[in-house]
Amino acid sequence: MLVSPSLLAADFANLQKDIEMINRSDADWLHLDVMDGVFVPNISFGFPVLEAVARHCKKPLDVHLMIVEPEKFIRQVQALGAYMMNVHYEACRHLHRTIAEIHEAGMKAAVTLNPHTPVCLLEDIIRDVDMVLIMTVNPGFGGQAFIEHSLDKVRMLREMIERTGSKALIEVDGGVNGKTAPRLAEAGVDVLVAGSYVFGADQPEERIKTLKNL
Ligand code: DX5
Ligand code: ZN
Repeated sequence: MLVSPSLLAADFANLQKDIEMINRSDADWLHLDVMDGVFVPNISFGFPVLEAVARHCKKPLDVHLMIVEPEKFIRQVQALGAYMMNVHYEACRHLHRTIAEIHEAGMKAAVTLNPHTPVCLLEDIIRDVDMVLIMTVNPGFGGQAFIEHSLDKVRMLREMIERTGSKALIEVDGGVNGKTAPRLAEAGVDVLVAGSYVFGADQPEERIKTLKNL
């Protein structure tokens, strides 16, 4: 299992400490949640903070843009040296073009689905993306309860990937913890994002290990 801890649940007054923990840990990526107060009803952090994080973090960056018109920021995400750029299906008018532009910028491209967006809408883009991020809560906040129907979505997506020969990874984000993670692994998830489960723990590196071993 790949693990991408979400910095949203870190101590923003002491990010260096949490980034050093991530660098030492078995985490595969660092998940960064950008919010604009328009696409989601919250604002997190923007590029000045991301640039500082990118300077210190040794893990590949998994950037999740919860913003309208994410295509306007491809160059800025590229300049961070990001590994993966996640854009929301609901935020992209020309998703195929945006995915191509992310690839032209040398990054992996992921499409993210809100809880209400059906997996079947990916039928004509699934071969073009490197990853699908299924939101297992409504985006905008950490610490929310896992939406049970997400497990069916993961199974449907796994079936679509196998049927089409797509190479896309399946990532999930929201409400991932010791109870939901094993069920998600069984349903066919490749990458777990976890915020409060990791950063809310006394032994965050142990929690990362627990998820990695699934
Ligand atoms: C929510 C973000 C998540 C968030 C998950 O909109 O996309 O990445 O940090 O938080 P937890 O793991 O606490 O549900
Ligand atoms: Zn996220």
